[in-house]
Amino acid sequence: MMFEVLRPKPADKILKLMKAYREDTRSEKIDLGVGVYKNSTGITPIMQAVKKAEQRIWEEQQTKAYVGLEGDSAFNDSMIGLILNNTIERDRIAAVATPGGSGAVRQAFELIRQANPNVRVFVSNPTWPNHVSMLSYLGIEQIDYRYFDERSRGIDIQGMLDDISKARPGDVVLLHGCCHNPTGANLTSVEWDEVISMLQRTGATPMIDIAYQGFGEGVEQDAVATRKVAESCPETLIAASCSKNFGIYRERTGQLMLITQEKDKSSVKMKQETLAFLNRQNYSFPPDHGGRIVSTILNDSSLRVLWEAELERIRTSLLDIRNLLAATLQELSHSDRFGFITQHRGMFSQLGCNFEQVKVLRENYAIYMVDDSRINVAGLTEEKVPVVAKAIIKVGI
Ligand code: LMR
Repeated sequence: MMFEVLRPKPADKILKLMKAYREDTRSEKIDLGVGVYKNSTGITPIMQAVKKAEQRIWEEQQTKAYVGLEGDSAFNDSMIGLILNNTIERDRIAAVATPGGSGAVRQAFELIRQANPNVRVFVSNPTWPNHVSMLSYLGIEQIDYRYFDERSRGIDIQGMLDDISKARPGDVVLLHGCCHNPTGANLTSVEWDEVISMLQRTGATPMIDIAYQGFGEGVEQDAVATRKVAESCPETLIAASCSKNFGIYRERTGQLMLITQEKDKSSVKMKQETLAFLNRQNYSFPPDHGGRIVSTILNDSSLRVLWEAELERIRTSLLDIRNLLAATLQELSHSDRFGFITQHRGMFSQLGCNFEQVKVLRENYAIYMVDDSRINVAGLTEEKVPVVAKAIIKVGI
């Protein structure tokens, strides 16, 4: 018997929560868990631009034959355009399509381990749980840097800089390009400059995970910090996801980029070949359908306008809900201690309460948030805000 030795794996806290919510039979239950956008009727809709692109692909596509290990070049080029907008010359970028943003993160971790088996990856405390889980699975040393200030629910920038200063050449510092997951607290432009200076001083390599471009300040604005890092550091890794901003979660569409300042064509070619090789070893050709939707939208001016308008509506609806929740909490608590919710950006806010309070909200009020008190703002509607706000106050947050 070969597989008797298998042992239960540590549960992913976000996926565990999804299951618990699904199994809860209370009709009044509210899901503020997994990071999936929902509209005011509780549906995760398919964007119109996506539907139209799919129709066009269905009508025009002649074959489903393999494309290439790096994925479709139209997808890679249009994502480079979306994220970097010509700030970096194309011939300094190696890029491959990956199965979702998680696929890009996983390939990036494998790449850095190949380049330096003793690499240490610095991650924000807290960060997306799957970063931590993948690093541990791959046997890569993880070092936390201070990030979230529990008291102000903002950023501990001094702590962050002090901790990053301990990185060395050959280490990687993982940053969230925008809309930090799980906290919702983001660096200001001045703070990004400080982080970039620190990266330059240490010689460590930045890796940016950008999974929510368009959910924070806008599709262009959300990529500014990523562009600045890529322009300022000798090498940068970018793991991007199209799951949320195109709403194509299950199509598993993402991209890994490796940007270098050097112009030596053979060296960039080697990097490109290494990324393609990694794809081949892990799953061979990356999925194509989602990437084709993305490039169809980004390369057609009317579809692009439609997509940007739809994304902008999602962004502003999240801001409206943030403002409403903060105002309701202010009224109920007679204090402005919840103002941080309006400062946070993206799908999430970390309330900064303890697990006991999170458990009571789950058990007594059927309100589901992640154990670390992360709420998905998109899980709220105008009707649900007062219910959730009252419960938050009742449990003493
Ligand atoms: C989340 O953080 O909720 C999302 O990125 C979904 C996931 O895979 O964890």
